[in-house]
Amino acid sequence: MNKRLIVSILLVSVLGLAWWNFFSGPAQSNWTPAQRQLLESLSLSALPKLPEDPSNDVADLEAAAELGHRLYFDARLSSNGVVSCASCHKPELMFTDGLPLAIGVDIGSRHTPSLVGIAYSPWFYWDGRKDSQWAQALAPLEARHEHNIDRLQIARLIFSDENYRQRYEAIFPALTEIPLDPVSASPRGNEAQQSAWDSLSSLQQENINRVFTNIGKSLAAYQRKIIPGRSRFDDYVDNIPASNATASELFSASEVAGLALFLEEAQCITCHNGPLFTNYEFHNTGVLAVNGQLPPMGRYDGIRIAREDPFNCLGPYSDASRSECIELRFARDTNELVGAHKTPTLRNVTDTAPYMHGGQIETLIEVMEHYNEAPVSMLSHNEAKPLGLRPVQLRQLEAFMHTLSAPLASDPKWLTPPTDQ
Ligand code: HEC
Ligand code: HEC
Repeated sequence: MNKRLIVSILLVSVLGLAWWNFFSGPAQSNWTPAQRQLLESLSLSALPKLPEDPSNDVADLEAAAELGHRLYFDARLSSNGVVSCASCHKPELMFTDGLPLAIGVDIGSRHTPSLVGIAYSPWFYWDGRKDSQWAQALAPLEARHEHNIDRLQIARLIFSDENYRQRYEAIFPALTEIPLDPVSASPRGNEAQQSAWDSLSSLQQENINRVFTNIGKSLAAYQRKIIPGRSRFDDYVDNIPASNATASELFSASEVAGLALFLEEAQCITCHNGPLFTNYEFHNTGVLAVNGQLPPMGRYDGIRIAREDPFNCLGPYSDASRSECIELRFARDTNELVGAHKTPTLRNVTDTAPYMHGGQIETLIEVMEHYNEAPVSMLSHNEAKPLGLRPVQLRQLEAFMHTLSAPLASDPKWLTPPTDQ
């Protein structure tokens, strides 16, 4: 081959490579040992077993999950007879509802989060105002825009429905002192419900609260069955060839590039880390307030509410000892928490649009554009900085998000209503 030909071939290849790099981002040819370690920490193979919940003695009791399963799908637990937990957390949408703002008996002010792997979370709600899954479950039941029922009506349903009563009494103490009158009563209800509550004896109140919390504990036991399944991402990470080449039939070049951006340039991993792609902490990421709403205080208010909740880990209905309530006792209060929301899991994120605490962002590519821009926060400051990525890189990040979806690992019987209902 003559010299000139070799030079031209080289030149063409160099230019070609430069062109390719410009449009697709630098080709990541090898993961460094540090990156490999990081990747392994994201695989479902690194997911520990479910954390214990010392505040809930029946968290891992099969019979409690069975009772919770029935309650979860039961629309009798609502004032209009059509709302159940499953109305908003639909198994077929990875336990979300596809709506920007949730609709129960009325429209709410928040977007329905996914419940996939929820038992790993130490805090519940976008602002973390509940510190256990059972205490969380009590809130939608009495919320006016959600189920809009109350604890007395729930206790009465368990008492009067033969199937519920048998299942309940097989786990918890036998039901007594459930008054037939008044019709409706709760310390959290409207004026009439509150004064009806005040008219009950303290023994009756105590018994109703016990049934109410046991219902929450059973719903929590059920939700511990909602477990993410292995996705293409996990297969890729667990099979990175020994030669350390990133090229693999499991991931396209664009997915590899998106993953590299996720780890390095875009720093998504700072908050979306571990096998569920969340650090379970609260951050302000400059998401605009929902139209017509004031910018929310987020975790700043959430931690205060959790501390005051009579159903928290330190309260009389918790099964934990004081020393076991580490999260609640040592939670920080800082101004950093103003406007901060819980980092959501990215597992199955392609099935859970729209996004963010108020469903403000419709599509994944728009989420990437949001991070690229990192708008100034309306309250306090946005922790994420503008990324300056090119459109093709945003598409690569999006392509990577798609590799995190997979059918759930749960036994399918938990994903449909129980057959005896
Ligand atoms: C009307 C729709 C609706 C109904 C009904 C509903 N939820 Fe939710 N759920 C939501 C919304 C919206 C949020 C987020 C609210 C917030 O953060 O302020 C949420 C939050 C949660 C969370 C916290 C998730 C997290 O990541 O922190 C859990 C767990 C949960 N719901 C379980 C339940 C259970 C159990 C029931 C039935 C007792 C139920 N939900 C009924 C809409 C609903
Ligand atoms: C500073 C921490 C932080 C960083 C960095 C970060 N995120 Fe987030 N992410 C969050 C929080 C917090 C939310 C929820 C914000 C809200 O609703 O107000 C969120 C929401 C999301 C959502 C919506 C999920 C849902 O179910 O609503 C996606 C998708 C997402 N992030 C992807 C990314 C990607 C990709 C990157 C990197 C470009 C990234 N995040 C960087 C903390 C972070």
